[in-house]
Amino acid sequence: MKVFVTRRIPQVGLDLLQKECEVKVNPHERVLTRQELIDGVKEADGLLCLLTDTIDKEVMDANPKLKIISNYAVGYNNIDVEEATRRGIMVTNTPGVLTDTTADLTWAILMCVARRIVEADRFTRQGKFKQWSPMLFLGSDVHHSTLGIVGFGRIGRAVARRARGFEMKVLYTDVRRAPEKVEEELEAKFVFLDELLSSSDFVSLHAPLLPTTYHLIGEKELRRMKRTAFLINAARGPLVDEKALVRALKEGWIAGAALDVYENEPELTPGLAELDNVVLVPHIGSASIATREKMATMAATNLLAGLKGEVPPNLVNREVLKQS
Ligand code: DGY
Repeated sequence: MKVFVTRRIPQVGLDLLQKECEVKVNPHERVLTRQELIDGVKEADGLLCLLTDTIDKEVMDANPKLKIISNYAVGYNNIDVEEATRRGIMVTNTPGVLTDTTADLTWAILMCVARRIVEADRFTRQGKFKQWSPMLFLGSDVHHSTLGIVGFGRIGRAVARRARGFEMKVLYTDVRRAPEKVEEELEAKFVFLDELLSSSDFVSLHAPLLPTTYHLIGEKELRRMKRTAFLINAARGPLVDEKALVRALKEGWIAGAALDVYENEPELTPGLAELDNVVLVPHIGSASIATREKMATMAATNLLAGLKGEVPPNLVNREVLKQS
């Protein structure tokens, strides 16, 4: 069995694959070009790819024998799943293992922007800290404030769980209301998006990127938020209209933002990087050593199962089974 891996992932995953397959790994420390990706897929029975690889019809056309696409991420908006299903190709992802790590990162950037940590760090390093001052880097309180969670799946709920330690009021919105038991356990109240936006001090996005969630937060929604509120996005960049966000941050419609993901990743919308009221990190939500190893193991396990004709544990397109 031949496997193509589009980027070096933690060795545990590669070891698993190498035990049973002929494995080709992208030798470069960069995302493959479109042509390199297509050339790699041509030879493979199984593809292990990243969220930075667009796996569409053209890529699938490169190899009619491709059996499985194993994404090294929980989000799989980079793959045309419908097209894969039509062709009988299995698609898998890595849910669960990155939930807590991504929730931790969400909290890290939320705290950073609320308490102006990045600005204060820069100031201190530059030797500007001469004396304690009553008005130095005044930020916003997180404790006892209101957190609005948009998308109440695994990661959204893990973020809510952490909010209890800060004695926050938690609101959430989702296409589906969570079971009563979950709402009670997390002390989270369901509201519609409009109410969440106008009532929250921190709005944190945890929805998947779908045609229905593209630009979920645009000018209208940003204007609906409190002028003292912060927007946090560790989900997918295109959930937010980044041009509108830059205007909101410049013109003070909201107090600040913390972003792990970008609309046109890795590009930043002009103006974003010049602003002090935004914290920017390079899509590192799941980036802990342990979690990336678990993701590698999971992606490899999914791939191997698919290649052996078994049902992969994290199959995204179950409809594909009906065809075989
Ligand atoms: C995912 O798995 O979707 C994350 O964005 C990777 O960090």
